[in-house]
Amino acid sequence: MNVLVTAGPTREPIDPVRFLTNRSSGKMGYELAYAFTAAGHQVLLISGPTALNVPDGVDFIPVETAADMHDAVRHHITRMQAAVFSAAVADYTPAAVAPEKLKKSGETLTLELVRTPDILGSARQPFGFAGTLVGFAAETENLLANARAKLARKHCDLIIANDVSKPGIGFDSDHNEVTLVYPDHTESLPLASKHDLAHQLVQAILALHAQRVES
Ligand code: PMT
Repeated sequence: MNVLVTAGPTREPIDPVRFLTNRSSGKMGYELAYAFTAAGHQVLLISGPTALNVPDGVDFIPVETAADMHDAVRHHITRMQAAVFSAAVADYTPAAVAPEKLKKSGETLTLELVRTPDILGSARQPFGFAGTLVGFAAETENLLANARAKLARKHCDLIIANDVSKPGIGFDSDHNEVTLVYPDHTESLPLASKHDLAHQLVQAILALHAQRVES
């Protein structure tokens, strides 16, 4: 099947040389892209800037900002059977990008930020995606309650929840420990390398997809 995977951070420009971003390395998403390909599926990886090599056989669209990622996902998602959103998309972006490098002036500098589009939250409507929809939840508190709220609010079939306050997992680590949050149950997976975990996640997503297709 055709699978869309989002990965990495976004970069929200402040001026020609500065941007807002986060600690996502892209490892989780690139391992998922690799694992789907290894399982015989066609992957389109839409990724913010990372230092990673794109896995062989994966179609790739590099993006910078949340708005770029939104446009790329909107353009491609309706021909996918499954979509997995592991990117750490900025929730806010500078209201205006300064055309020239900002000069030092006062003792403080206030940036006005505006909301970015919720890409995962747009998948069902307005994008019209009817396939298997999987999001991530990166939480530092109330992991399961927040993940379950995202599952409902973003009309997902599954949320993969990680507690990013735990040392050694989540952002920029080679390991992760996640709980799968489905509409009617949860399943915790043990700590594993992102490489090994990605294969487990792909099997879970394929099983979920098969169930959806049957029903
Ligand atoms: O990249 P790594 O270093 O390997 O780290 C992996 C990870 C920690 C980034 C990954 O496991 C993870 O948790 N990804 C989601 C990070 C995140 O931003 O979560 P969130 O709870 O803020 O967002 C919820 C979901 O909505 C996510 O699927 C996110 O991709 C999506 N989203 C969020 C905001 C937005 N504007 N558009 C979105 O699509």
